Amino acid sequence: LNAVIRAVCRRSFARGSTVIGFRYGWRGLLEDSAVEIAPSMLIGTITEGGTILRSSGDNPVHAPDGPARVLETFHKHDLDALVVIGGEGTMAGARLMWEEHGMPVIGVPKTIDNDLPGTDATIGFDSALQIATEALDRLHTTAESHDRVMVCEVMGRTAGWLAMYAGVASGADVILMPEMDMTVEDAAEIVQARHDRGQDASLAVVGEGYKLRSSTGLFDEVELDQPLDAYGYPRMGGVSYHVARAIEQLTGFETRVTVLGHVQRGGIPSAADRVLASRFGSKAANLVAEGRFGRLVALRGADVVDVDIAESTGDARCVPESYFDFVRAFMG
Ligand code: F6P
Repeated sequence: LNAVIRAVCRRSFARGSTVIGFRYGWRGLLEDSAVEIAPSMLIGTITEGGTILRSSGDNPVHAPDGPARVLETFHKHDLDALVVIGGEGTMAGARLMWEEHGMPVIGVPKTIDNDLPGTDATIGFDSALQIATEALDRLHTTAESHDRVMVCEVMGRTAGWLAMYAGVASGADVILMPEMDMTVEDAAEIVQARHDRGQDASLAVVGEGYKLRSSTGLFDEVELDQPLDAYGYPRMGGVSYHVARAIEQLTGFETRVTVLGHVQRGGIPSAADRVLASRFGSKAANLVAEGRFGRLVALRGADVVDVDIAESTGDARCVPESYFDFVRAFMG
């Protein structure tokens, strides 16, 4: 987030523009908490994760009188454009403000889940992937030393990008992601086969959105206690405990669980994310200068392009079937 803010500011300052930041995302527009960004505020921010402006899940779509309040703030500060950085919820707000209220918006894709439609990549994913991969490497070590099955749950909601990438990168033996119909029996079979070959340690990665499946009917799909957060999204996490129990029951091998959780969202951003964020931010500032609005900055192949903001809303961009064969080839 900081690298995008920095890029938007640097490109805009170079054109003689002033940049106003809104604290806590859309909430800053709903409540008018504006702060003029001075160049000195950006010093050192490229290496810092998070955002100097802070963040929230607030959104004009859900807030009472949301669009009217956002418009009022926008006009009060006499702004030319609004650049919003975020995932599906943020972009739903951007789309609404553009399509229904003509507000000149530009969207920049950001989520560790990598699941925003309209773009091939979102910033944050690569940094989270580094953390998950490093954690899995560490789990590998202790799995090997103690002859254990280590089950590690990663974030990603309904998309298995993090599970798949971290699983392949770390040489995990089992990768359970929401999109693939693998059962716990499949997972146990892989673990058992490894033991039969004399490999007494196994590493399994589970995407938090994986729904427990059982081919024998021995294990029911569990109803996880996932209360809704303040914005109506289920708080995910915990399926790996059930996966681990099933693997242990089916194989008899000692199994341990690690749920990585918010560790994946902190710390220093990866170099690749810093560069992608800088490219995205530059593009956003250029679109503002060109007066082209209602656009989502997007990665398509290796190119940073812009597409209709409407492309960023709708169903999450999940791992397509074309990857499944590839993932299977690396398991076991
Ligand atoms: O969407 C990003 C994400 O980190 C998901 O992977 C995760 O399920 C969720 O946010 C956690 O949300 P919160 O920080 O509100 O608990």
